[in-house]
Amino acid sequence: MLTHASTSGASDIGALVREDRVHRDVYTSETVFALERERLFKRAWLFVGHTSQIPQPGDVLACEPAGQPVILVRQPDSGILALANRCLHKGAPLVSGEQANVARMLRCPYHGWTYRPDGTLLAIPLRDGYAGTGLAAGCEGNGLVRYRHLVDYRGFLFLRLAEEGPDFHDWFGPALAALDNMVERSPQGRLEVVGPPLRHRIRCNWKIYLENINDAMHPVSAHRSAATTAKRLWAGRPEDAAKPMAIEQMLPFGGSYEFFDGMGARILPNGHSFFGTRFNIHTAYGALDAYRQAMNDAYGETRAGEILGFRSQNTILYPTLSVKSSPVAIRVLRPVAVDETILESWSFRPVGAPDTLLERALTYNRVAFSPMSVVAHDDVHLFEAMQRHLGSDANPWVDLRRDAGDPGALAGEGATDREVASGSEALMRNQFRAWQHMMRASGS
Ligand code: FES
Ligand SMILES: [Fe+2]
Repeated sequence: MLTHASTSGASDIGALVREDRVHRDVYTSETVFALERERLFKRAWLFVGHTSQIPQPGDVLACEPAGQPVILVRQPDSGILALANRCLHKGAPLVSGEQANVARMLRCPYHGWTYRPDGTLLAIPLRDGYAGTGLAAGCEGNGLVRYRHLVDYRGFLFLRLAEEGPDFHDWFGPALAALDNMVERSPQGRLEVVGPPLRHRIRCNWKIYLENINDAMHPVSAHRSAATTAKRLWAGRPEDAAKPMAIEQMLPFGGSYEFFDGMGARILPNGHSFFGTRFNIHTAYGALDAYRQAMNDAYGETRAGEILGFRSQNTILYPTLSVKSSPVAIRVLRPVAVDETILESWSFRPVGAPDTLLERALTYNRVAFSPMSVVAHDDVHLFEAMQRHLGSDANPWVDLRRDAGDPGALAGEGATDREVASGSEALMRNQFRAWQHMMRASGS
């Protein structure tokens, strides 16, 4: 449907998304992926890291939002700057690993140009060689490109690469409640990232994965073998026997269609959503009395009950972040190519909470999301096969009309905040509505 020549106009993008279906090109076209980087990923707010990863002055975290090499550098005054990880000279990366400490300066590994932690040029070997060339070494403004739109939201760092784009709070709106809730699950109101994220390279378009995060209709069939295995392992045990953590976490995957459809969901403007408003697959985990007491002491009984009663199993902060308030974990999608996505699974320690909470996050990420997961391979096998089969000569459309039978439903979905069944594809339609809006909008 799309050619390089035909995608210059917004109308071509508009034709890919209908109210109840999307064209396969949104998942398979390299042209669309290139446009997504420019119009969506550079203009939306992308999660790039957590402040606990760079606590000391000079600490650096490297990341690559929308394919752009960026370093986040903790400054001597404790602020954080986002700088291009690209030397002014010939473009060598100033930081090669994921994390570093640059102490007093960043030194380019190629020809030794050095920069201050704020990115301004400090020194060049045999600097006289540049005399009269116009390179004003050391002058303000002659330094690494600085990305100005960096927001620290309760420790979660979000970057908007483009100069023009939506305001942070306007963009996320009520979805930020999921991050508030994660932070408040610490009796001290503080989270720490534990270890580097688990990474899983998946040969599929990022939207196939994102849709799945809101897909309540797939576990019964797709995760049947994993759920059945857990059930068999636990068969015959007394009802009240304490379950090993992995069993406790896997058994709910064996829930019924009615269970998954009844969790409830809420769609929000800009593609965000709460998935699970009444209960979710984590709700029945064993009570932790000491933790409840610590929360009561910190917040008071009523407020502690509200915090622990927050039910969203996966909150999507569109386009690439999914937040699990309990277990305290996030998933981050890193789209690499039209048919390649890296999934990162991050675990957090709620400071002041028993280690069991951290263990739940680590175990869940390992059991459900990692490359050695006994659950994720069910999905990943399907995602990768779908990516290949979408390119076939068969029907070029992907259907999204579940729960769209009410004639007023589709029109009423636009840019609204409303409750839907968790099994409804209104959740995916909501994502594509945001996608279409960002992809159609002009400007950088
Ligand atoms: S590329 Fe960095 S000093 Fe030459
Ligand atoms: Fe799944």
